[in-house]
Amino acid sequence: MTERIANLKKRFAELYASPVAGVVSAPGRVNLIGEHTDYNDGFVLPIAIDRCTLAVYGPGENRRVNLASLQQEGDNAWFDLDATIEKGSPKWANYPKGVAAGLVEKGVEIAPMNILFDSDVPIGGGLSSSASLEVATALAMLGAADREIDDYELALICQKAEHDFAGTPCGIMDQAISVMGQAGKALLLDCRDGAVTHIPFDDPGLVLLVVDTKVKHDLTDGGYAARRDQCYSAAAKLGVKMLRDADADMLASTDLSDKELMRARHVVSEIARTLQGVDALNDGDYATFGKLMYASHKSLRDDYEVSCEELDEIVAQAAQLEGVYGARMTGGGFGGCAIILAQAPQADNIAEAITKNYTARFGFPCVVFATRAAGGGQSETNGRS
Ligand code: GLA
Repeated sequence: MTERIANLKKRFAELYASPVAGVVSAPGRVNLIGEHTDYNDGFVLPIAIDRCTLAVYGPGENRRVNLASLQQEGDNAWFDLDATIEKGSPKWANYPKGVAAGLVEKGVEIAPMNILFDSDVPIGGGLSSSASLEVATALAMLGAADREIDDYELALICQKAEHDFAGTPCGIMDQAISVMGQAGKALLLDCRDGAVTHIPFDDPGLVLLVVDTKVKHDLTDGGYAARRDQCYSAAAKLGVKMLRDADADMLASTDLSDKELMRARHVVSEIARTLQGVDALNDGDYATFGKLMYASHKSLRDDYEVSCEELDEIVAQAAQLEGVYGARMTGGGFGGCAIILAQAPQADNIAEAITKNYTARFGFPCVVFATRAAGGGQSETNGRS
């Protein structure tokens, strides 16, 4: 990390005339369980991972905010602080612009500034690269303005940027964990009221493997929004505010369409699994947690229809391997990543077997890496930790 920061500062000096005023970081995430529940007012249980977006910033001139990224060489962007901030091109800059617009709306006086980003969260790979870019932007802008904002409000501003500037109608999970993650802890978030409980997730006997299918998904293509709408119409027909308020008995006697019933069945059962999962983790009962992971995957595959054959293959293969407690897709789906919870000493064997099988089946390799629960967004300038 020190090396990455040093390199970023060097590149910042090559690009901009201003000195460095601060460094911020914001992590990506994997969700242990509680998928597609956040926009139904349910519970989620993500961890922040040890991959993040870094940003170095310094004072700018002429009422301008300049944006550049090591991952988007030659595609620099800027906006004028005296004009309405609008989305446009390049596309990647819509995330920082959206955050800026949200901060302005909250009365933050954004300073003219130069920002350079660098991310090691795979872009578009289902590990919340965009949420980490949003949160890093917010922390840099707040640092430069010498302002602080409540964690949950910050997450909401970043979520709104994603809705309004990137066109993804996401829930609050990704932004919330990027802001509020704690090292060694999973975050149980009640997406109805923002209540947070940190659950220990640091057993050295455990390993959490992330398997990146390398199949890219695009949550703006309508599949995500369609699921959301089906959940809301199901809740309306059930006469409840959100599916959080429904239960299995209610689903037994309704006039829901087939799809609405499938979506609702997933959400209701997934919320229950998430709370059971928290109990299992607290008891160190990984076998039970693993069973809940498999059940979550099956429900996402069959009832929510957001898995794909690459993810299904990884989960099916993992279930055959020694030392594996459980596996499931993580995040929005339609590609992206799977996670495998396993006994630490088996990590290498599992990674090898998964990669070999995946390459043989699909003709290209997946990427497997171990991760751990890392801390949330950090800012050198305003003392967040
Ligand atoms: C995406 C969204 C999240 C959440 C997950 C599914 O990652 O950004 O808000 O809905 O999908 O759990």
